[in-house]
Amino acid sequence: SAPLHIRVLGEKYTTDDYTNLSPSISSKLSKRLHAQKGHPISTLRTLIENHFPDFAHFSSLSPIVTPYQNFDSLSFPADHPGRAKTDSYYINRNTMLRTHTSAHEVEVFAKGTERWLLTADVYRRDEIDASHYPVFHQMEGAKIFGNDPSSIEQIEKETQRLERQLAASNIVTEDVQHISQTNPAQTSHNVRSSEVTAKNLKLCLNSLLYELFADVAGASEDDPLRVRWIEAYFPFTSPSYEVEVFFRGKWLEILGCGVVLQSTLDRAGVANKMGWAFGLGLERIAMILFSIPDIRLFWSEDPRFLSQFTHGKINTFKPYSKYPPSYRDISFWKPGRDMHDNDLYDVVRDVAGDLVEDVTIIDRFTHPKTQRDSLTARVVYRSFDRSLVNEEVNGLQDRVVSHLKEQLGVEIR
Ligand code: PHE
Repeated sequence: SAPLHIRVLGEKYTTDDYTNLSPSISSKLSKRLHAQKGHPISTLRTLIENHFPDFAHFSSLSPIVTPYQNFDSLSFPADHPGRAKTDSYYINRNTMLRTHTSAHEVEVFAKGTERWLLTADVYRRDEIDASHYPVFHQMEGAKIFGNDPSSIEQIEKETQRLERQLAASNIVTEDVQHISQTNPAQTSHNVRSSEVTAKNLKLCLNSLLYELFADVAGASEDDPLRVRWIEAYFPFTSPSYEVEVFFRGKWLEILGCGVVLQSTLDRAGVANKMGWAFGLGLERIAMILFSIPDIRLFWSEDPRFLSQFTHGKINTFKPYSKYPPSYRDISFWKPGRDMHDNDLYDVVRDVAGDLVEDVTIIDRFTHPKTQRDSLTARVVYRSFDRSLVNEEVNGLQDRVVSHLKEQLGVEIR
C-alpha cells in the first residue's frame, strides 16, 4: 500500500488520492541543468539573458508549487484539463510540480520587478519519444510598465528604436493583427495601449529570434530568417500569440506569449501597470541550435556528450555511435475506464528510467462481447552509454509487466 508520507527535495509531505509523483521524476528535481555551466540548456539561458541586458534574472525558484500558483493565480478555469492527475505531477492535492514557469508570474510581479527572465525545470506527464520528456526547461520573460499615457508613449519610442534596428536585418515576419475579434484586447485595457504593448512584444521577440536563429537557419541575402506570428489562446494573456520559426523546410513552434491578463497584475498588487509575457521551451530551441537529435541526451552525464560544449558558445553536436535498440511488445486488458496512456508511460519510465527510448501504442481494440479494452505497446530500450544485454532488457520488461499488474491492475494477455 502507498506510504503515508513522501520526501521531496528534503521536505516531508503527506500523500493522498492525488499523489502520483514517481521516483524517476523525483530524481530529476535536484539536477538543475539550466544552472550547470557549459550545459547547452545553461548556455542558451545565458544567451537569452544577454539579449535582455536590463532584465532581472531568476533561476532558483522551487519546482514545488501549489495548484493556486500554477493555475488559479493565472485565471485557469476550475475544469481546465491541465489540472488533471493524468497531465500533471502531484505530491498531494495541495502541492504539485510546476507545469510551466508562468506559475511564478504573480510572485515575481509582486516583488515590483518590471522586467524579468525566469528559467526553471517544468514537469508534465507525457508520451515517450525523441522529443518528449516529462521534465524540460522553460524561460519566462516579462515586461510591465505604467498604463498611463506617458509610460505608453515611452514604450512606443522603444518599439520604434527596435523597428529601425530590425529593418537592417535579414528577417521576414508573417504577422497577424495585434488585436482581432477572436484575439481581443482586455475589457479593462485601452485598445491603443494594448496595441502598443503587443507591438513592443513582437519586436522584442523578433529581435531575440533573429539573434538566436539567423546563423543556424542560414539567413542570407536571398534566404532570410522567416518568423511567423499566429493567434493563440492562453488563460492568462489576451491578446495571445504563438511564434514559429522556419527551419529545414518546417515551421517550428518556439514560444507562446501575450498581453498579461490584468487580473494577474491585480493579484500581484500592481494594478496600475500593464505589459507582456512570453514562455519558451529551452530544449526545443537547444535541439535546433546545437543539432541535438534526442531530448534524453540533455540528461546524459557521459563525457562524450558534456565535453563537446563550452559555456556561452553554440556548436554542432557530433553524435557518437549509438548502441543498438531492443524492443519488447506487451499486450494487456485495461483495468477499466480510468487508466490513461500516461499511466503506462510513467510505469515504464519508473522501471527503466533513461533506458527507455520510446513507447508506442501499436494496437488497441475493444472486445465485442465483454467491451473490455485491450492495448498493445511496443517499448524500445536503448542506452546512450552502453550496450544492453538481453538479460537486462528481459529483466526490465519483467518488472514493467509486474508493475503494470500491481500498480494499475491490468491483465496481461
Ligand atoms: N506558459 C505557457 C506554456 O507553457 C507559455 C506562455 C507564457 C504563454 C507566458 C503566454 C505568456 O505554454
